[in-house]
This record gives sequence, C-alpha cells and structure tokens, in this order.
Amino acid sequence: MQIDFDFSGKHVVVFGGTTGINFGIAQAFARQGADVTVASRKQENVDAARAQLTSFGGRVFGVCADVRDFDAVGGAFEQAVAQHGPVDVLVSGAAGNFLCEAKDMSSNGFRVVIDIDLVGTFHVLRQAYAHLRRPGASVINITAPQSFIPMRYQAHAGAAKAGVDQLTRNLALEWGGDGIRINSISPGPIEGTEGFRRLMANDETERARALDAVPLKRFGTLDDIANLALFLGSPYAAYISGALIPCDGGGALESVKPPLEAAGRAATAKASKP
Ligand code: HXC
Ligand code: NAP
Repeated sequence: MQIDFDFSGKHVVVFGGTTGINFGIAQAFARQGADVTVASRKQENVDAARAQLTSFGGRVFGVCADVRDFDAVGGAFEQAVAQHGPVDVLVSGAAGNFLCEAKDMSSNGFRVVIDIDLVGTFHVLRQAYAHLRRPGASVINITAPQSFIPMRYQAHAGAAKAGVDQLTRNLALEWGGDGIRINSISPGPIEGTEGFRRLMANDETERARALDAVPLKRFGTLDDIANLALFLGSPYAAYISGALIPCDGGGALESVKPPLEAAGRAATAKASKP
C-alpha cells in the first residue's frame, strides 16, 4: 500500500539510492511524479536503477559517486541540478556494514564504516547545501537502531549512525533559517534487503526470535520506509525538523527491554535484602 502524494515537478535526489531501502524510496517518489536522481558507487547498480525508475514515466538521472569522495559528490550534484534543477528532497542513505566484535576489528575496518556512513553523509549534505530549494527543501538521513541501542558486533556502525543522528540535529538548527528541514528515519529489520541479509541470523530459530522482538510481529517492507519518506518530503511534514523517527514496528522499544528488566531485577533483589 502506498499513500498518494503529488511530487510532479519536484527534484528528488537519493544518494545510495540504487538498491534496497533507498531504491524503494526512489521508486516511491518516481511513482508520485518526481524527477529523480540516484547515485551510488557501481555503474551496474546505477544503470539498473535508472532503467527501472524510467518505467514510471518521469525524468531520471543516474550518476556514479562514492560518498567518501567529497569532490565526486559535488560533481554529482552539479550534474543532477543541470538536469533537474534545485533539489526539493534529498535522501542520504549510503551505508556499509559487517558483523565484527570491536576487539577483533582493524582500525581500517572501523574507519571504513565511519567514512561511508558518517563522513559520507556530511559530504552529501554539505555538497547539497548550495543546491537545496530554499525555503522548502526536505533532507532525510537514513540511520539505524544501532545509533541509539548498543548492539554487539556493531561498534563501528553504532558510532557512525549516532553521528549521523547528531548531524541531523545540528544541521536542522543551522539550516532551519533557510527553510530547510532535516530529519532521520531509523528503519527496523526490512526483509529482503542487504542489511537484513548481512545482520539478521538466517536460520529459522534466530529469525523467529528476531520477529518476536518486533511488537507488531512482522518484519518491515520497502513501502513502510518509503511511505514515511514521502510524508517527510511533503508539505504535510512542514513543521517537522531535527527529528529521529523510528519506522520499526516498535522494535526499538522491545530491544531496550531485556537489559532494562535485568537491571531492574538486580536492583529489586538488592533492595529486598534485609
Ligand atoms: C571484519 C572486515 C569485514 C568483516 C571488511 N572488513 N569486512 N573486518 N569483518 N566481515 C575490513 C577489511 O578487512 C578492511 O580492513 C576494511 O574493513 C575495509 O574493507 P574493504 O573490503 O577494503 O572495504 P570496501 O571495499 O570499501 O567495502 C566497504 C564495506 C563493504 C563496508 C566493507 O561491506 C560494503 O561496501 N558494503 C556496502 C553494502 C552494505 O554493507 N550494505 C548494508 C548496509 S546495512 P583491513 O584492516 O583489512 O584493511 C546497515 C544497517 C542495517 O547499514 C541494520 C539492520 C538492523
Ligand atoms: P544496501 O542495499 O546495501 O544499500 C546501500 C546503498 O548504498 C546501495 O545503493 C549502495 O550502492 C550504496 N553505497 C554503499 N556504499 C557507498 C559509497 N561508499 N558511496 C556511494 N554509495 C554507496 O542496504 P540496505 O539494507 O537497503 O540499507 C539502506 C540504508 O538503510 C542504510 O543506510 C542502512 O544503514 C539503513 N538500514 C537498513 C536496515 C535493513 O534492515 N536493511 C535497517 C536499518 C537501517 P553501490 O554498491 O552501487 O555503491
């Protein structure tokens, strides 16, 4: 199911927008009439995404750029704006991840995720700034629950995404006067995506356990996230800025429960000792 919004004549740029969740967002905006730009590292991903997006009838531009390369990101915006004009909605969602305990992680392993997720987000927003429609632009960063829920094997991604969230708040402060809104979406486990494949256990027992941790008792879909992005990109969200919005079936609530309950049990046991 998708909500009906009209983005005809609007330019929507999705960085990291060629696969998975971000491509789902790009598709949703294309379906609602937007002129879409997608950017990522691999030419084959850019070509495939552009071909699919074109089938919705709008104007589509695709460009290769690694978010770690500040100048390449700037060049991508120059080309995109030459094609479709100022940017009305910007989605920044490029990310990299793998499972590794901090004690086993190399310095470069930690750095590469910080570079893609956090420095990359800064590059995208910083290079976009001159091209954002003002007033009126909406910037949407894609974060993750590990930004505010500590998770084992995720020291790199947790630190990077926490930085992304604070960037959201800082830039909402600094750019609000230009009429630019900036928010973060924190997706829960979205089935069929690379992040889901990489980070969720793939056997049935672990899958059932993960599902049980979602209060709504289902994994998320691409449309769940895309619908929130459409809303944040639209005038209906005109007074929302600097917000971190989980779209996770309530999963963030359940994840903090076990440690909190364990601490509560320990405190209760201590308090009840004579
Ligand atoms: C330990 C690892 C590792 C692993 C890589 N490294 N994989 N260390 N365990 N599994 C280390 C390498 O040894 C190297 O350090 C350093 O990381 C860089 O590795 P490269 O392969 O050279 O990096 P690069 O080619 O730039 O690739 C970046 C990447 C890759 C992050 C490693 O996985 C990638 O490009 N991913 C993009 C797609 C992706 O991850 N999508 C999922 C996003 S999901 P040394 O010291 O050896 O040089 C997400 C959250 C989901 O973000 C949340 C779900 C709930
Ligand atoms: P994905 O399919 O791997 O999407 C990542 C996208 O970023 C791809 O288009 C990739 O294309 C691009 N990318 C990666 N590194 C890049 C770089 N250095 N420069 C430019 N583009 C780059 O992953 P996903 O699972 O859909 O995740 C998308 C977003 O949602 C991420 O921000 C992730 O942290 C977040 N998230 C996902 C989940 C989940 O359940 N999947 C949960 C919470 C949060 P190229 O390979 O062509 O560069």
